[in-house]
Amino acid sequence: MSKIEAPRGTRDILGDESWKWAYVRRVAQGVVNDFGYKEISLPIFEHTELFHRGVGQTTDVVEKEMYTFLDKGGRSITLRPELTASVMRSYIEHNMARGSQPQKFWCIGPMFRYERPQKGRYRQFVQLDIEAIGSKSPLLDVEIIDLSMEFYRRLGLKNLQVVLNSVGCPECRPLYKKALQDFLAPHLPELCESCQGRFDRNPLRILDCKTPSCKAITENAPSILDHLCPDCRAHFDTVIKALEKLGAEIKLDKRLVRGLDYYTKTAFEILSGDLGSQNAVCGGGRYDNLAEAIGGVSTPGVGFASGLERVVLTMESQGATFGKEPRNRAYIVTADDTAVLEAARTANILRASHIATDMDYMSRSVKAQMKTASGTSDFAVILGQSEIEQHNYTLKNMATGEQETLSLEELIDKLK
Ligand code: HAM
Repeated sequence: MSKIEAPRGTRDILGDESWKWAYVRRVAQGVVNDFGYKEISLPIFEHTELFHRGVGQTTDVVEKEMYTFLDKGGRSITLRPELTASVMRSYIEHNMARGSQPQKFWCIGPMFRYERPQKGRYRQFVQLDIEAIGSKSPLLDVEIIDLSMEFYRRLGLKNLQVVLNSVGCPECRPLYKKALQDFLAPHLPELCESCQGRFDRNPLRILDCKTPSCKAITENAPSILDHLCPDCRAHFDTVIKALEKLGAEIKLDKRLVRGLDYYTKTAFEILSGDLGSQNAVCGGGRYDNLAEAIGGVSTPGVGFASGLERVVLTMESQGATFGKEPRNRAYIVTADDTAVLEAARTANILRASHIATDMDYMSRSVKAQMKTASGTSDFAVILGQSEIEQHNYTLKNMATGEQETLSLEELIDKLK
């Protein structure tokens, strides 16, 4: 029979990598605690309509990339391609506007997008998602950007660039859209096929097309920053001023428009110089009209999400540390079969004393067991016939080779 493999675009994260993920999660938890964010756990699937109305019908995510199916009750269900719409759905559903504002959330979990897989781009991937809902303050945008930078700083990531733009609001964006269409209209036949399709439906997306001919055409396109209404302009200026005060190095990028329709005002990404074409380690921004789009009352919000595969890849390529790979403290080596019951009892006692312990379950030779002990553990606890008769243990330090004979109490004390 043919072998069954993991679906394209998914990855098994195995033991030799998962401890690195555990480290990244621990660092994330430390950062979110220090910024006062609370964990939120939401469903992996939602009603499809949430993403149609929240993320936007004309986005690539909704048009091409969603895992959508009818459940056995005939409802259209979608595996979440992102979390912002779900967090806002939950905020509205649980009337969180009643509590003190803003409410701040964090979550780590899998997202699903039917994209063409390549390095740093998967069909199932893990995001750290951060959302702050309920305040219009530009200083909250700054907090979000600061949080993302603090996360990468603690992980030791280098060679990152923060790029920032404003995508305006429903008042000023239509005027900019018109100016952009007027500029692009004479070049329409030279745009790539996708951008020709975007011209009427979503012209701002043409600005971040990677096709060289489109890039050349949009080089001199009007900038949205010259078309912001006074409110969006003042908001953007405060964000920049406050980031400068924090000493953050940022680059303004008039082409940055983000791929999801809910954004208003601030949009940002952090790019890694070590990732190739899928170089955004995170992306985010403000989304003051999302709540209304999904049936709530007007509620501002701002947040970002970071793809953790890309974070781990960047750390690996930069040789960043993931802390110490966890090792067992003790490996019990049995000299013959008569010792195995005693070995199992000793393992039970050591584990109950919070000493990470493993033992042999394959009746292997002492030599093979010692090899495993040296590869996986700090100490070998050797149990042979004489140790069993004399109720003691031989403890071998795998780094120095030193050996000593100890009672059970001494063994526990030493290993702790
Ligand atoms: P996004 O830019 O679509 O934004 O995704 C955020 C991050 O998720 C990206 O910068 C990247 O690191 C990672 N990512 C996205 N797609 C993939 C993929 N196929 N494979 C691997 N990593 C990927 C959002 O999702 C927004 N919800 C962010 C946000 C939160 N905005 C406001 N609040």
